[in-house]
Amino acid sequence: MADLHFRRHRRLRTTPGIRAMVRENELRPNDLIYPIFVVEGENVRKEVPSMPGVYHVSLDYLDTEMDELESLGIPSVIVFGVPHEEEKDAEGTPAFLKDGIVQRAIRQIKENHPALTVIADTCLCQYTDHGHCGVIHNGYVDNDESLRNLTETAVSQAEAGADIIAPSNMMDGFTAAIREGLDRAGHVTVPLMSYTVKYASAFYGPFRDAAHSTPSFGDRKTYQMDPPNRLEALKEAETDVEEGADFLIVKPALAYLDIVREVKERTGYPVVAYNVSGEYAMIKAAAQNGWVNEKDIVMEKLTSMKRAGADLIVTYFAKDAVRYMQENN
Ligand code: PBG
Ligand code: ZN
Repeated sequence: MADLHFRRHRRLRTTPGIRAMVRENELRPNDLIYPIFVVEGENVRKEVPSMPGVYHVSLDYLDTEMDELESLGIPSVIVFGVPHEEEKDAEGTPAFLKDGIVQRAIRQIKENHPALTVIADTCLCQYTDHGHCGVIHNGYVDNDESLRNLTETAVSQAEAGADIIAPSNMMDGFTAAIREGLDRAGHVTVPLMSYTVKYASAFYGPFRDAAHSTPSFGDRKTYQMDPPNRLEALKEAETDVEEGADFLIVKPALAYLDIVREVKERTGYPVVAYNVSGEYAMIKAAAQNGWVNEKDIVMEKLTSMKRAGADLIVTYFAKDAVRYMQENN
């Protein structure tokens, strides 16, 4: 082989030490955002059947949950409220009550764990009796009417103390409307983490069980994006930046890493990959059957999102991921 000339890439893979020295992307606890589901009632800590390890918790369990996140070094949570079924109405009123479930949860977290960054998911689907993300006129989700309730919801969440508002409804102009509403109410410093690119995806199935937010008729395809489209995602990103988004969410993550990369490169904005419920459930199910190694697959998957250009990752695996990081040190 003496006169053969080729590059020996394997030299940099020889030992764990050398591999660590040349590793290009690494997951950190600071990259992670943990989703939580808060419910009415007391003494509730109920596992979501399609999401093993994910729980509905009532407010009396919230402090314990937040203690755990803080001790793991997870800096932020995104809060989803699940109101009583009988409170829901056509307008999604329980979303913007001063003492709604999310507003109370936010207030409690900021009071007892002020250092945690609290992100409020702003949508109406968990709060409407029809399960759509806006209000309905003649069987169609009315864009501009919905903006009013969404803005009111965002303002009520900021008043409760949310550090960041994350609107997930996919109405046109939602970023502009919510920005203006927040500014008028004096919340100019509260950033918007917009669900800029949100596809109408089959990967949300388990979340809808968890949030009780399955639409009672039709689907979300008239407002969420069509999965085959790429240029449309870039248009959404462009308009969202114009309208005042501070962070851009791409959702789901795994089947859309090409979009994560492009949105990051085109905008230079902080990009958040949302590792959704279906992605979580698939790994859990395979791991429980002994078909894949959960730890390895979770770390590989989350790191692939960083490699694609995500600055932050919303993931139900956040607590597990930090434990895995600690085991490796
Ligand atoms: C609804 C909303 C969805 C998720 C978060 N907020 C999905 C939807 O039902 O359209 C998905 C989260 C997940 O699947 O983990 N506004
Ligand atoms: Zn919604």
